[in-house]
Amino acid sequence: MKKVILAYSGGLDTSVAVAWLREQHGVEVITLTVDVGGGSIGDGVAERALAAGASRAYVVDGRERFVRDFVFPALQANARYQGVYPLATALARPLIAQLLVEVADRERAEAVAHGCTGKGNDQVRFDVAVQALAPRLEVIAPMRVGMGLSREESIAYAAARGIAAPLEKASMYSVDHNLWGRSIETGILEDPWQTPPPDVYAWTVEPAAAPAIPTQLTIGFEAGIPVSLDGEEIGPVELVERLNALAGRHGIGRIDHVEDRLIGLKSREIYEAPAAVVLQAAHEALESLTLSREQLRFNRIVSDQVAQATYDGLWFSALQRDLLEYVRSSQRVVTGQVRLRLDHGSAIVTGRRSDESLYDRALATYDAGDTFDHAAAVGFIRIFGLPLRTEAARHGSAWTWTKPLLGELPMSVADRAGTGS
Ligand code: ARG
Repeated sequence: MKKVILAYSGGLDTSVAVAWLREQHGVEVITLTVDVGGGSIGDGVAERALAAGASRAYVVDGRERFVRDFVFPALQANARYQGVYPLATALARPLIAQLLVEVADRERAEAVAHGCTGKGNDQVRFDVAVQALAPRLEVIAPMRVGMGLSREESIAYAAARGIAAPLEKASMYSVDHNLWGRSIETGILEDPWQTPPPDVYAWTVEPAAAPAIPTQLTIGFEAGIPVSLDGEEIGPVELVERLNALAGRHGIGRIDHVEDRLIGLKSREIYEAPAAVVLQAAHEALESLTLSREQLRFNRIVSDQVAQATYDGLWFSALQRDLLEYVRSSQRVVTGQVRLRLDHGSAIVTGRRSDESLYDRALATYDAGDTFDHAAAVGFIRIFGLPLRTEAARHGSAWTWTKPLLGELPMSVADRAGTGS
């Protein structure tokens, strides 16, 4: 019998998909559940898969690799889709896809399957990642090809086959979560004018209800990777978990975004990403100290490209590989500490230091000990301004397109003779 490896969350949809794949495609179903943190998998997920009709259920703890190989490279790149979304969901998909492929190899399966609908980004990410890693594999997405059931239909379908619906009460929203963040959509959120109701949030408190006393925190980085909190070395998974809890208590990490999906529609998304927001602020603060102006400017272009490729499911493209290699190299000097204050929804950088700092106090100071050559500025500016003087000489000064302001603006003039107005 043909084998299919199904990405299985343990929820109602993927439980129904187990039965549906067996009945509609006449296949043996093996499930794969990947723990990517953030409470992403419930207890008894393997038992549920087997009860739904899977012949075998893999459960893999992917948390460490998720943070090391996907989350931290994205952090090093300052990757945020459309400048705001830290890409939690998008970053987990290539990891899950890779594991699907590996289990498919191990089980000599001909196909993999996932529970994504035909309207979102996630289907693209799974499908394209599998195409990049193992073009021989077929990808089946039951929700796209006939299994589109309403919640009631799914419950009835499951009940008729003796599959227990998950115990937790149905959420009003579609939620995906992992260590790097929680993504919430649908329901009342589909109206972009609606204030997100409090029940949308699970990891963050309302900023106004945050503790009156801010928390001060120091994060240590080595080559662009966070490695310590308040001087204590800490592993990647625990570091992100601790920051999620700590920053969430201060109401940090809520993001309300109207986002452009790859498939062409706009969608209102709420994210909670306390650790991501804090770490990105800290990382950027350290880069501002240790990277040159030209690196910072160029890296913004790279950030945007890496973010969009991640969002678009192109993690396993050659361009992404090479850009991440560039980013990694650029991080050699991003080592040092950043101090922040967590305060009513904001993570405010209050200090940064590094042995690799390019900041030179003797050059910057306005106090005694200034080593900057003020007189040299004259020659520098003469050369720097040369193109504009040449333009003015050849094509006329900027007055040819600029209107005078004096005379247009309210003004008073005082002088000693008292003849002013
Ligand atoms: N819009 C986000 C993204 O494309 C989040 C998707 C969340 N998925 C979900 N099933 N709720 O990455």
